[in-house]
Amino acid sequence: MATQAQATAGRFAPELIEQGREQFHRTCAQCHGRNMVNAGTTVYDLRKFPLDQPDRFQQSVTLGKGNMPSFKDALTPEQVAVLWAYVGTRGGKEN
Ligand code: HEC
Repeated sequence: MATQAQATAGRFAPELIEQGREQFHRTCAQCHGRNMVNAGTTVYDLRKFPLDQPDRFQQSVTLGKGNMPSFKDALTPEQVAVLWAYVGTRGGKEN
C-alpha cells in the first residue's frame, strides 16, 4: 500500500490514522464515544488501552469481549489495522 511506504515521522502514516478515525466513528463511537471520550464506567476507555498490545486489540475487536460484540464478519483485517492506527496513537496524538 502506498501510504505505508511513505516516509513519516510516526509509526503510522497520517492517512491511516485518518482512515481509522472515520472507521471508528462509523462502527465504534456509538459505544466508545466520539473521539474515544466516554465516562469509562461500563465501556472500556480506549484512551487508556496499552499502546504496546496491538495483538490484544486485534483479538478483542475480532472476537469480541464481554459485552462487546465480535466484528469478525463486519470488518476486514485491514479495517481493524487502520482502527489500531487510530486507537494505538491516541487518535494521532502519540504517533
Ligand atoms: C455495543 C457496544 C460496543 C461497540 C459497538 C464497540 N465496543 Fe469495544 N467494548 C465495549 C465494551 C462493553 C467493552 C468492555 C468489554 C469487557 O472487558 O467486558 C469494550 C472493550 C473494548 C476494548 C478493550 C478489550 C480488551 O482487550 O480489554 C477494545 C480494544 C475495544 N473495545 C475496541 C473497540 C473497537 C475498535 C470498536 C469498533 C470496531 C468497538 N470496540 C466497538 C463495547 C463496544
